[in-house]
Amino acid sequence: MPDFIVTPWEVSGEIDYDQLIKEFGIESIDEKILFYIKEITNEIHPFLRRKIFFAHRDFNWVLDEYKKGNPFYLYTGRGPSGSVHLGHLLPWIFTKWLQDKFDVELWFQLTDDEKFLFNQSYTLEETYKYGFDNALDIIALGFDPKKTYIFSDFDMAGTLYRNALKISKKITFSTIRATFGFNNSSNIGQIFYTSIQTVPAILKSVIEEKNIPCLIPHAVDQDAHFRLSRDVLPKLGYYKPASIQCVFLPSLQQSGKMSASVETTAIFTKDKPDAVKKKINNAFTGGQKNAKLQREKGGDPAICPVYKYHFMLFTLDDDEIRSIQSKCMNGELLCGDCKKDLIEKVNKFLSEHQKQREKAKDKLEDFLLKEKIDLKSLIKEKNSK
Ligand code: TRP
Repeated sequence: MPDFIVTPWEVSGEIDYDQLIKEFGIESIDEKILFYIKEITNEIHPFLRRKIFFAHRDFNWVLDEYKKGNPFYLYTGRGPSGSVHLGHLLPWIFTKWLQDKFDVELWFQLTDDEKFLFNQSYTLEETYKYGFDNALDIIALGFDPKKTYIFSDFDMAGTLYRNALKISKKITFSTIRATFGFNNSSNIGQIFYTSIQTVPAILKSVIEEKNIPCLIPHAVDQDAHFRLSRDVLPKLGYYKPASIQCVFLPSLQQSGKMSASVETTAIFTKDKPDAVKKKINNAFTGGQKNAKLQREKGGDPAICPVYKYHFMLFTLDDDEIRSIQSKCMNGELLCGDCKKDLIEKVNKFLSEHQKQREKAKDKLEDFLLKEKIDLKSLIKEKNSK
């Protein structure tokens, strides 16, 4: 038995990302591809340099096509819920960088259907509503309204359903069971769902009636869906979608990833400064039991979530992070001071994010796509003729 699990429905344990690369058959982001990206964008995002985006499928192909004058579009998504945390922002921040650097469209799927099907406690009304709340966090990151389409699956049901049907016809139950580990008590909506998540990978090709490359930035747990998409879509005459995949922001506690269902492990985008302070001060660290021992022996950044928050989101300057790392290891930097620095950085980030989030309420309509037909008013209209 592996001591970690990574599926779209469960992420737990200490994840060995090198092993995932082998298991999933994804490719690591190596020096060659970094060089290629820099050639085009003149810059390598710290998430790439630091292997936070660590793996891909066909990213080099997408870059080849781009250079030939055949640009791609971006597709990513969110299973809406009550609270967005910093771990969710990680792939979106990178997606925004990709949009800026390549000047391309982003299609953002809010899977209110998925959340409903996979969570016994949620109603349809709730997941739909959460979608628009979560969209504020997405918009707050600064995506270009002229090039970004955010849509709820409910509101795009017509197009999604028509295309999901074609996709689902090419996937057997036995494949789904092997890929996702469903069993006899899984509901039948869950079994069908992956075909809905595949559609946005061809949406632009469907609309423009020609094949357009699609690049999907996502956390590595979603790979199973797109592995299937890559099997099926060529059978329908489309390109395989490419992907670029990131690791998880760790929990503030000893192990696992940041999780919305365990309050103390995560920092939410709506958290107030005091809550942030409390959570970080209570975080697990790689430090010694007391200051005296820390000065003598130094700490261990490799196992420290506080260090990892600096490394993954809040200390993106290379000299600065190297200094934190070496001062921690040689005992110069005490955990209390390192936490204080992180608290300040997180609160500065959140204060700006929360401001942008408020402003996003007025911008929502600039981003949303809806094709939902209100049956009641249609009938009224028909009867009044
Ligand atoms: N299934 C994803 C989740 O639960 C949401 C999602 C839909 C997604 N389409 C995506 C995530 C494309 C990444 C890329 O969060």
